[in-house]
Amino acid sequence: MRAPARPVGDLLVENIGELCTPRGFTAPRGREAMGRVEVTEGAAVLVKAGRIEYAGPAAGLPAQAKAQAHEGRLARLDAGGRAVVPGFVDSHTHFVFAGHRAEEFLWRAEGLPYMEIHKRGGGIARSVTATRAASQEDLLALGRARLKTMLSLGVTTVEGKSGYGLDLETELRQLAVMAELDREGPVEVVPTFLGPHSIPGEFKGRPADYVDFVVKEVLPAVKAQGAAKFCDIFCEKGIFELEDSRRYLETAASLGFGLKVHADEIVALGGAGLAAELGAASADHLLKASEKDIGLMAKAGVVAGCLPLTAFTLREPYANARAMIDAGCALALASDLNPGSCYSQSIPLIFAIGVLYLGLSLPETLTALTLGGAASLGLESRLGSLEAGKDGDLLVLDAPSMAFLPYHAGMNLVRTVVKAGRIVV
Ligand code: NIG
Ligand code: FE
Repeated sequence: MRAPARPVGDLLVENIGELCTPRGFTAPRGREAMGRVEVTEGAAVLVKAGRIEYAGPAAGLPAQAKAQAHEGRLARLDAGGRAVVPGFVDSHTHFVFAGHRAEEFLWRAEGLPYMEIHKRGGGIARSVTATRAASQEDLLALGRARLKTMLSLGVTTVEGKSGYGLDLETELRQLAVMAELDREGPVEVVPTFLGPHSIPGEFKGRPADYVDFVVKEVLPAVKAQGAAKFCDIFCEKGIFELEDSRRYLETAASLGFGLKVHADEIVALGGAGLAAELGAASADHLLKASEKDIGLMAKAGVVAGCLPLTAFTLREPYANARAMIDAGCALALASDLNPGSCYSQSIPLIFAIGVLYLGLSLPETLTALTLGGAASLGLESRLGSLEAGKDGDLLVLDAPSMAFLPYHAGMNLVRTVVKAGRIVV
């Protein structure tokens, strides 16, 4: 799906005060794997043709690389004794949209519930109107600017969802924008089709008919264009309930798409259990997910996606990420950047909330934003940790240790961003 000729580089990162990385080429399931972050003092990382060839104590660096660097035949980056972590993977966003809903944010702040605004024709419908009216060029510019902000915060891989078109043409336009931005780089974009994000005005009160339309007319077109890796649905009471969700997800699976589910955000409908039953890559939100469904997700290897900035913005109790890890799930933390429920892509705030309010350790929080996010996208064998064989996606922090990530709360500590061995920030 991705353009094969992504630019890659050779780079030696030297003088790393603390190299902090999860380890593993598989999803970090459960407490031991999520908490396993290796910290190496006095480290170096060698990237060749975009891939990590060595990551570990500087003393162990291959002699040939040292010689090449010494002779000026290898680009060098002096980390100046600072901490280095893997590039962050934001595994759940809706970053391609037009317009804004700032006034709704203030209505909610005054106490109007999210679903009430939705029922009054506000909410997603307003972003759909604005996105349908936007040209591909407009959407490209908006998406590009948001990716630039994310990159400055250390995000080297982003999942993006359609779902502000709710018609064939606009859904495909959103996906085309993501493909174009992925080609442009340096941020890698993983596209997800979210046609059943809301019921469009044309199908008001007829969710099953809209799902029929999506299944019969939109999914095959998305498939024919190779425009998405995953298919997602807003499985929620009063929107797309279990029966419609199952029908859509089963069709998507039969066409070869990976599955994702917006599950159990507002009421405990059982979306997480459905995700487990269908072998989804992830179920996300999960504010109200039942203990039983969390257990089923762990068993089925469904990555638990928690979106703490959304709970923060909606002033809802956070998802029980602790229970999800303890039940044996891999956890991904992501921004959910979107114009409604969460207009923020603040990775720094996620670190602070993870450690202060989700009951997670710092290693677990770091893993959830790197290897856990990669696992949510099926990319854990290539991304999410700094080990020989993985892509050279890394961040030099403006801090001596990873503790500063939650400690310097809400502040951007990213000093240098490297994507596939190239310095991009
Ligand atoms: O993940 N819950 C549904 N979808 C988005 C919100 C979209 C919007 O409000 O525009 C979410 O939170
Ligand atoms: Fe979302």
